[in-house]
Amino acid sequence: MKKKIAIILAILSVIMLCFSGCGSKGKTLDDIKKAGELVIATSPDFPPFEELNENGEVEGIEIDILNLICDELGVKLKIEQMDFESVLPGIQAGKYDVGVSGITVTEKRKKNVLFTKPYYLAAQAIVVFEDSTIKTKADLEGKKISVQTGTTAESYCSEQNYAISAFAANSDAQSALVTKKVDAWVIDNCTAVQMVKKYNSENEKKLVILDETMTEEPYAFAFSFGSEDLVEEINKFIDAKINDGTIEKIFENNDLMYESPNK
Ligand code: ARG
Repeated sequence: MKKKIAIILAILSVIMLCFSGCGSKGKTLDDIKKAGELVIATSPDFPPFEELNENGEVEGIEIDILNLICDELGVKLKIEQMDFESVLPGIQAGKYDVGVSGITVTEKRKKNVLFTKPYYLAAQAIVVFEDSTIKTKADLEGKKISVQTGTTAESYCSEQNYAISAFAANSDAQSALVTKKVDAWVIDNCTAVQMVKKYNSENEKKLVILDETMTEEPYAFAFSFGSEDLVEEINKFIDAKINDGTIEKIFENNDLMYESPNK
């Protein structure tokens, strides 16, 4: 009997060990150096952070930053594209090394992934047609709003009990507004500026971004648990590049004013 209990206990502890071990799937700094590449998961529908250029390549502020990080680590950058809603689950499952997608650090997400230090501070913005009756956040009450699936715009708007339509692609969230299926589009402010500018340059009826922004969105890169030493290394790098003005310069090159998260 005692022997049986001992065997059962041994099996249980192996299962427990596996579970705790399975929680940390992230690669260490050493693993990355050995692999010779850093695999990023990104949703390239978020200008100027990541978008597709005319040759179908992913480019943008975050790609510039990641290229610098890869140079520092002496590894190649490998880009895996997907919808935003798949980025964080993919990191959590250890399928990719780092999530690079204008990802906002939130307490809820911190339970599932390991964030670097934020390198930028954004906010949520409201986009409407210029003749819209929606002039402030208070006017969103009872209105239909489009958002991108899995984003902080989606969680914020559902917390406010707004009637939301969620779309896997950012461009579809914009189209919902343009085709009047919704009354407003909620999206991160910098991406709103870029996408609205492009739309307005091609269309008669103009979109506007309301002055009133909502929420604070510190952007960081997301790793799987287990990548603690790698994150530590990257944090040092982010600090150094914020302090020496490199990150600010990257923003300026992309026509965006830099908002430091370390205010
Ligand atoms: N900052 C928002 C979030 O973390 C939106 C990010 C959307 N990113 C993208 N590449 N489409 O939820």
